[in-house]
Amino acid sequence: MLTVIDHPLVQHKLTIMRDKETSTAGFRQLLREIAMLLCYEATRDLDVELVDIETPLMPMKAPRLSGKKLVFAPILRAGEGLLDGMLDLVPSARVAHIGLYRDPHTLSAVEYYFKSPEDMGERRVIVLDPMLATANSAIAAVDRLKEAGATDMRFVCLLAAPEGVDNFVGHHPDVPIVTAAIDEKLNEKGYIVPGLGDAGDRMFGTK
Ligand code: PRP
Ligand code: URA
Repeated sequence: MLTVIDHPLVQHKLTIMRDKETSTAGFRQLLREIAMLLCYEATRDLDVELVDIETPLMPMKAPRLSGKKLVFAPILRAGEGLLDGMLDLVPSARVAHIGLYRDPHTLSAVEYYFKSPEDMGERRVIVLDPMLATANSAIAAVDRLKEAGATDMRFVCLLAAPEGVDNFVGHHPDVPIVTAAIDEKLNEKGYIVPGLGDAGDRMFGTK
C-alpha cells in the first residue's frame, strides 16, 4: 500500500526544503516539522484499548495506546533527520539504528551498523529515510529488520521515485509506504528529480 500525504502544510514545507536557497538550519527544522505530520499519518491505525480513569468530575473509560512501544528505525545518516520530529510525538518509542550507505558507483546498499531492541516481533516498526530513490537502501534495511524479527513495519519517507516504489513493493509487498511526494524519475546518477538533492548533505551541511 502507498499513501501520499497531500496535506497543504506538508506540501508547503516540502517546497521550501526543495529550494536550493534554503539553509542547513532551515532544512533541518522543516524536516523535523514534516516528520511530525508524517508520523501522525503512519500511526493512525495503532491499536488502542479502553482503560478506567477518573477525570476531576467522574470516572470514565478512555482510550489509550495498547501493546508494546513503537520502534522508530532511522536509516543513517539522513533518516536521523526524521527521528526528532517522530520522537516529539511519541516520546516513549524505542529506536533501532540502521547504518547503511549507498555505494555511489553500484548504487547498492552497504551496511556498517545495526542495533535494535530485542523483541522486534512484538512491536510496530516505522522505518525512516527521507529519500526512496532506487530503494536499495530501504530494501536492505527492511531485510535486516525482518532478520531481527520485525513483522509489522511501515516505511516513511519524504520523496520517492516511481522506480524505487516499484522495486520496494516487489521485495516487500507487506510493508506499506508513506511519502509526502512521488517525483518524476531517477537521473543517471540515481538521484530523484526534481528532488531536493542529497538529503544527508543538506541537513548536515557536508557539501
Ligand atoms: C541516501 C538516502 C537513502 C539513500 C536512498 O543516503 O538517505 O538512505 O541514499 O537511495 P537509494 O534508495 O537509491 O538506496 P546515502 O547513501 O547518501 O547516505 P547518507 O544518508 O549517509 O548521506
Ligand atoms: N539520496 C539522496 O539523498 N537524494 C537522492 O535524490 C537520492 C538518494
